[in-house]
Amino acid sequence: ARLSLWGGRFASGPAPALAALSDSTHFDWRLAPYDIRGSKAHANVLHRAGLLDDAQLAGMQEALDALARDVASGDFAADPSDEDVHTALERGLIERAGADLGGRLRAGRSRNDQIATLIRLFVRDEARRLGAMILDLVDVLQTRAVEVHGAAMPGRTHLQHAQPVLLSHHLLAHAWPLLRDVERLQDLDARAAISPYGSGALAGSSLGLDPEAVAEELGFTGSVWNSIDGTASRDIAAEFAFVLAMTAIDLSRLSEEIILWNTKEFSFIRLDDGYSTGSSIMPQKKNPDIPELTRGKTGRIIGDLTGLLATLKALPLAYNRDLQEDKEPIFDQVDSLALVLPAFTGMMATLTFNTERMAELAPQGFSLATDIADWLVRSGVPFREAHEISGACVAKAEEQDKELWDLTDAELSGISAHLDPAVREVLSVEGSIDSRDAKGGTAGPRVAEQELEVLRRSGELR
Ligand code: ARG
Repeated sequence: ARLSLWGGRFASGPAPALAALSDSTHFDWRLAPYDIRGSKAHANVLHRAGLLDDAQLAGMQEALDALARDVASGDFAADPSDEDVHTALERGLIERAGADLGGRLRAGRSRNDQIATLIRLFVRDEARRLGAMILDLVDVLQTRAVEVHGAAMPGRTHLQHAQPVLLSHHLLAHAWPLLRDVERLQDLDARAAISPYGSGALAGSSLGLDPEAVAEELGFTGSVWNSIDGTASRDIAAEFAFVLAMTAIDLSRLSEEIILWNTKEFSFIRLDDGYSTGSSIMPQKKNPDIPELTRGKTGRIIGDLTGLLATLKALPLAYNRDLQEDKEPIFDQVDSLALVLPAFTGMMATLTFNTERMAELAPQGFSLATDIADWLVRSGVPFREAHEISGACVAKAEEQDKELWDLTDAELSGISAHLDPAVREVLSVEGSIDSRDAKGGTAGPRVAEQELEVLRRSGELR
């Protein structure tokens, strides 16, 4: 028979269709260890408030420890009669401590403050675990950047050749957003570190229990100031869901480039066999499944965030059962990223860069046109005019289907008297890259500083 937490005024148990709709143990069971930790802390405050004597506290803690062991080993699991993780664990406690002692734990708490607390514990642990996985990828990007230091590639805007940049500069441009994602996870941890325990159903607890003591025991920095807020709010879950969605989007943008770079047309990279797949029909195929699945899963990870936000949108205070829908989206995000990140990091660590191909393409598509304009500005020409002159050089070269450096001295001086042959010094990829030497620029020494800075920050965030 179903052990109900509210049996008193009900003549019958829930209809099967209600139970099927309402039951959540198939997804909230993963919170069981947190629930037991919360129960152990709660038992201590009950004792301090005189609601459990010494022997009862010892018996309760012993039974909770046994339950924790049985949950960990799988000897105790939720069964179809349990509505949620809290109900199941109360059944487990009563089986171990007896109905009299086991039935005392629920005093002064509600599943509403329990679940709000458990979510924060979960968010805090997973923020750390995923943060470390993101930093592993940052470190790989940094290592690869150092390895290819000095190699040039075509930098793009609008996917068109824009200006040459260092490949290491480009790789680090993917590392910085990921570092910020880890910073965001750490920032939100400070907000998640406030315990809702003691909020009860919504109005607080009346039994002289100390919420600050429970908070401290669970590793929180304090307890909530408002019990209604403590049980009704899920902005912390939503913030976590945003950061995970943003992380996925950052991975998805890099994925898109990896997929492009891996095409015959680009031929910028070669994926390692262990991190690519073949085709069942076309023997020549080597497919970039990792970035494709990353890009694909990003769709559902964004969906998890928008679904959660929509669930919260019109909820009156305080707890509503709708809030049970907060868990699956963030579990799905966490599980998806925990699969994606190691595969992605392994792929990035093992792919080969075709630096000759990138270097060959770097100056093509008139990507040095800005350098002509900048050179003219350095010799005193107003930028507006310099831009015109450089544009005329592009038109001239394009007309003859050649590159800027193929223009003859006569053609150059024919376009403008300012264009003496000395301009050729910037008509090279090295000249162009070396000239962008202000902070944040692509010049070798600046990128070398960046490489160190990324490594330093990643170490600091660990
Ligand atoms: N399982 C619920 C949730 O995940 C917690 C139970 C609160 N239920 C209730 N009827 N007050 O939100």
